[in-house]
Formats: sequence, structure tokens, C-alpha cells
Amino acid sequence: MMKNINFEENEERLLAGTYQKIPVVAARAEGTRIWDAEGKEYLDFMSGYGVAILGHSFPAVKEAIRKQLDEVYITHASVYSPARSSFLSELSSVLPWNTSRMFLSNSGAEAVEAAIKIALKYTGRKKFISMEKAYHGKTMGALSLTHSNKYRKSFGDIIYPNVEFLKFGDIEQLKKSLQGEDVAAVFLEPVQGEGGINLPPEEYMKSVREITEETGTLLVLDEIQSGLGRTGKMWAHQHWGISPDIMTIGKGIGGGLPMGVTAGRSDIVATLEIGEQSSTTGGNPLACAAGVAVLKELRNGYVKRAETQGAYLLKRMREEIGEHRLVASPRGIGMMLAVELKIRFLPVLMNQIQGGLITLYSGFNTIRLLPPYIITEQDADAAVGIMKQALDRQLENSRVS
Ligand SMILES: Cc1ncc(COP(=O)(O)O)c(C=O)c1O
Repeated sequence: MMKNINFEENEERLLAGTYQKIPVVAARAEGTRIWDAEGKEYLDFMSGYGVAILGHSFPAVKEAIRKQLDEVYITHASVYSPARSSFLSELSSVLPWNTSRMFLSNSGAEAVEAAIKIALKYTGRKKFISMEKAYHGKTMGALSLTHSNKYRKSFGDIIYPNVEFLKFGDIEQLKKSLQGEDVAAVFLEPVQGEGGINLPPEEYMKSVREITEETGTLLVLDEIQSGLGRTGKMWAHQHWGISPDIMTIGKGIGGGLPMGVTAGRSDIVATLEIGEQSSTTGGNPLACAAGVAVLKELRNGYVKRAETQGAYLLKRMREEIGEHRLVASPRGIGMMLAVELKIRFLPVLMNQIQGGLITLYSGFNTIRLLPPYIITEQDADAAVGIMKQALDRQLENSRVS
């Protein structure tokens, strides 16, 4: 058997150095667990950055992919495909518009790129509003809407310049910025993910919807992280009883196969004409077949499960580590959770990995969790136990040093 170290060394040498690596090799995965090449088991609450919404190796998704492999798995979107057609029907049945259209691509950032083009062309306006701490991806268009200077600093001169960043949750600021009626679209994550799991104030989303409507500005909701049940509803915006004009969807929509979707009210998406956007592999039958399986599972109970299991996990985090000396606050909604620390996250994250739990992080001091919706209460208890141990060990270490 090869040792983990071979894989690590090889990637360190050959893969572009753009990822902050963690010392985990995923050699095998099933359900809520992954195992490294030496058999060490981890609870996976990173879920491929929120992609494995039904956990790893979900039987119905695997079966759908297998079946599609035997039929046809390469078809450009200029050719009709039964799998694509089923996917479009299935997804449109859970979209918020009476008539919708979708552009299919391969990633979240690509979904955002298409949304940018649609908004520019449909409105004929040139300006965008995005939010402080927003994350919409790293391709050049998407990057212009992403706030973090860490991602922008080397490219600031050449990304799309007409973007104003406002405070997420500040409706007065937004009203002022929309006065000129020159803004094509407001881009918004209903719950900010990468920015640290930030929820808007209760009335904010409704007010945003009203004021964008009044000013003829499109509201683009980026549901790439918050959508598909992640917050306990199919779409996070349903918590506030509003619907967007355009929505971007990604991560788990292809059952783990690359897929991005730009969905919108039919007349708005129809603004793009033949050739104005395309993708060689966007909407390929394999990802579409997997997507149909995912959407069926979500409709048949897994969205509800994200709500109940997420509430249980947050309750257990509050009980076990809410008062910990290193913890500022656990927070979140559904399966989109975070623990803000009073210290930098890195040593705690490393302790968690040693203890057998993989999570994400945000900024400098936040541990972020995007668990699969299939977790049991035992999984949640085990994860919280490992988090507590990781915090205790860090407290101990800081006393010693
Ligand atoms: C809200 C949001 N938008 C866009 C993206 C970019 O998606 P991708 O990494 O698939 O390009 C992400 C990824 O984390 C995201 O969370």
C-alpha cells in the first residue's frame, strides 16, 4: 500500500500552489466519512466545500451516473439530450418563477459569469452592487464581485471596475446607491458563506427586493452555497418570503460532478442570444443525470433533514462549546454553521483534524461547517466532542507556552 506521504509530495510538486492544503489524503469515502490511504477515519464536515450534500457515494446518485454512463455521457448542448431535458424539468419545478430558463455550466464562478452578462444586457446598465465580505468566485468577472482583498489584490487593475461594495444588512446605504437608477444588478448571498456564515437582519431581504423592484435593478441571489436545502429550505431566500430575478446554483447540484446553473425568470434569461454564452461541457448528460437524482432526494425529505439535523448540531455546539473560553459564538442556519473563536482558527483546525474531524474555515478566526444532510445525531455528537477536545488542547497549549 502506498503511504499518504507519496500523494502529498506529488501534489505539492505538481499542482498549482493556489490551495491552502490541509494534511488529509482522501483515499476512500462513504456517507459522512472519509479514510486516508493508511486507514485513518475522518468525519467529513467539509463535504468537498459543501458539494457532498448527501454525503459520499450516495447510492441513488451513483446508480444514476452508472446508468447514464451506459447510455451516453458526452453530448454538447447544441444536441438534444433526454438527461438534460429531465434535469431542466426537475430543477424548474423547484425554481421560484412560473416560467424559468437556465444556462448550464460547470462551476459556481461560471454561473456568476453568466449572471453578470445577463444583467448587463437585459438592463443596458453598467454598474453592479455587491457586499462587503461577499464571495462569488475567482474568475475575472466573479472576482470583481468578490470582496476580499486577499483574492483581488494582484488583479485589482484589470477586473470589472463598476462595482460598489456595501455593508451587508445596511438598507439605507443600498437605498442611497440605487438612487441614480444606473445599477444593473445587486448581487447578494442570502446567507454569506465564505465571509463567515453571516445572516442578514430580519427585514433586510424584503427591503432589498422592494427597492430593487422600484428602481428597475435586477436582484441576483447567489445560492451556490446556501441553496439546495443547505439552510433547511430548498433556497435560502425562502426564509424571507422573496424571490430573485436571477439565481446562481452550484456545488452539489451535479451530485459531485461539475455543474453550475444560472437560472432566472424566463424573459430575463432570454436576453442572451445564440453564441453570447456557451460551455463545451456545460449541461453534459452525466452531470444532468446525477443532478436529477440529487433533486429527487432533496424533494423527498433531505431538505427537511438539513433543517432538523442542523438545528440539533447547532444546539449541541451551543451546549458543549458555546461557553468555552476560546469561543466567541456558534451560529448559523440549517447545515450552514460556524464557530467564531477568540483566537486564530489554524491550531484548532489542526487539532480537529488530528482528532478525526475535517471542517472549513473563514477569515482568521472562524471555523465553518458544511456537513452533509445525512448526518445522524451520533455524528453530530462525535463532531462536537472532537471540537471540544481540539479547543481544550489549544487552551492547554497556550497555558504551557
Ligand atoms: C456563494 C458562492 N458563490 C460562488 C462560488 C464559486 O463557486 P466555484 O468554486 O464552483 O467556482 C462559491 C464557492 O464557494 C460560493 O460559495
